[in-house]
Amino acid sequence: MDAPSPSWQRLYADETFSWIWPPAYEPNSNPPELEQILSLLKPHKEARFLDLACGLGWLTIPLALRGFQVTGYDLSDAMLTRAQQSAGHVNAQIEWVRGDMRSLPASWTATFDCVTLTLSEFGCFHDSDNQRVLAEVARVLKSGGCFLLDIVVNRDELILNGDRNNSFDGGGFFIADKGSLDILSGIFTRAFQWYHQGQRHETSWQIRAYTPPEVKRMLDQAGFRELSAYRNYAGDSLTRDSAGMVFLAQK
Ligand SMILES: C[S@@+](CC[C@H](N)C(=O)[O-])C[C@H]1O[C@@H](n2cnc3c(N)ncnc32)[C@H](O)[C@@H]1O
Repeated sequence: MDAPSPSWQRLYADETFSWIWPPAYEPNSNPPELEQILSLLKPHKEARFLDLACGLGWLTIPLALRGFQVTGYDLSDAMLTRAQQSAGHVNAQIEWVRGDMRSLPASWTATFDCVTLTLSEFGCFHDSDNQRVLAEVARVLKSGGCFLLDIVVNRDELILNGDRNNSFDGGGFFIADKGSLDILSGIFTRAFQWYHQGQRHETSWQIRAYTPPEVKRMLDQAGFRELSAYRNYAGDSLTRDSAGMVFLAQK
């Protein structure tokens, strides 16, 4: 197993980069994405969920409040601590586990009805470890269980629309964001630069951008059989201009 991607680990362990952190749980929110995700997964009432790389828990907590049995799993202590605090405020009962998604606990074999991996950096490892994540998900799902995999890039779209330059508000300061794809390796890099309190900062992250057929092949190889792909949780069709990809796979 390769070392975990250092850029990702740094970004999710350090408050300096909170501008890139995933969405936090908003108390009393009823995120529309929750209904859409449940429409795709169609879980039974007592379903047991694993929210993999759960971040700050925007999905983990509403799932638990809906009455499902939920485990939130993440590598980052900072994320888990925040998510746990948010869950405490609304009395959501969740099992929180810290770990690497490439190696899930041995005791979890055939435990879950549904696994979610949302807003995911699926692709932040080398190909063999990305495949290993899928194999681990297949292992911990019960037979017939469903996996929702939401990937933040689509190589077809990156090819279609080319390199990109954006800027966004990082919370009182602007961040320049340059995205470029290396054609041969398939690695997409986002480089960020910003000035804060008179000082220049920069960082970057990288991800292996897959095409939809590549992800399908990897899911097949991991042992999933029924498979559908969408451009979003609403279930709209996946096209080459979809910036992200949502796969629904059944074991
Ligand atoms: C973009 S966030 C998405 C969080 C959440 N799923 C959501 O939809 O908001 C990615 C999360 O993956 C976690 N992560 C990164 N590498 C991981 C690994 N190897 N194993 C488990 N979690 C990891 C990060 O700590 C972070 O919380």
